[in-house]
Amino acid sequence: MNQVLLTRLFKSIDSNQSKALIRVAYSIIDHEKKKGHTKLADKLNSILLKNLEEAEKEPKGLKVAKTQNFQVPVDRRYRLPLANHIEHEYLRHEMVLSEDVETKILRIEKEYLARERLAHHGLKPRKRILLYGPSGCGKSMAGEKIAWDLGLPFYKVRFDSIISSYLGESASNLSKLLESMEDFPCVLLLDEFDIIGKQRNLSSNDVGEIHRIVNILLGLLEEYDGKGILIATTNLEGSLDKALFRRFDDFIKLPKPELNQIKQILKISFSALKLDKKVSLDQYAKKLTGFSYAIIVKIANDAAKHAIINSKEAIFTQDLDRALQENKAINK
Ligand SMILES: Nc1ncnc2c1ncn2[C@@H]1O[C@H](COP(=O)(O)OP(=O)(O)O)[C@@H](O)[C@H]1O
Ligand SMILES: [Mg+2]
Repeated sequence: MNQVLLTRLFKSIDSNQSKALIRVAYSIIDHEKKKGHTKLADKLNSILLKNLEEAEKEPKGLKVAKTQNFQVPVDRRYRLPLANHIEHEYLRHEMVLSEDVETKILRIEKEYLARERLAHHGLKPRKRILLYGPSGCGKSMAGEKIAWDLGLPFYKVRFDSIISSYLGESASNLSKLLESMEDFPCVLLLDEFDIIGKQRNLSSNDVGEIHRIVNILLGLLEEYDGKGILIATTNLEGSLDKALFRRFDDFIKLPKPELNQIKQILKISFSALKLDKKVSLDQYAKKLTGFSYAIIVKIANDAAKHAIINSKEAIFTQDLDRALQENKAINK
């Protein structure tokens, strides 16, 4: 094969690729060696090694980036931190997702890991993300999962501190926070960020001010070009306007679980327990369609707890039906 093409091909291989591709790369090296092209083979080998080593250095899994150099700024009046840090070990991350959502989350993570390679081509990873969808369907959890998967420190914006008693300071609080995080690789969650626009008991002056703050917030989000990932979430699906979506690099809808995902959650929840022979998880999953992930997890846990507390040997249909009946009212 053409030397230049081969070199280019090898430069694009890293450990994010499948093992099969990496094996093929090694067999090309062997092949070139056998043909007597030792110089080319050595060159390809060192490109491959360097790429794989660099990818190894990326923070992954449990390797957490250092946080000691970062001090969360506080609001001027009450000295409250503008964001809370959640320790890595407490991040929720075991999610059951549709293939579509999983692929999109993975793409954010892959682009982050490949940020330096992207930069060589004048490209930037997706770093301003909007997660939207009904309540209890994993928006906040997905933010935590991304931090977990990438081994990045996780911070959650405290809107109570941001909107200090001096409304006028909210905008400067926000920009102070984003600016302080510019050079600090982390995941910053702006959970239910539209909450700012929903403040109650406001005078008409304040309403105008809140409107201004929301616009500034959106402007700050749009301008963010730091080293981390900003994740904003909202339940307000219907009223989101197109202009809002344009401000983000990516927007992902986290919908209610489908039958497949419901079954998977039930299987995971009951994996350590015995199920009575008459229990059909397939049938039960059907009864749970239309419920949010949060309620389904709760129903499954309620049924399991009931069986355990009553020292039953297994979970029976009655346990499941009771849990469903009790929680029905919360959903829909
Ligand atoms: N995709 C999911 N897989 C497994 N459990 C989930 C998923 N989404 C939500 N949950 C469950 O629901 C709870 C609430 O999720 P959360 O992310 O807080 O919802 P949201 O932010 O969309 O309101 C989680 O603690 C978890 O138990
Ligand atoms: Mg949430």
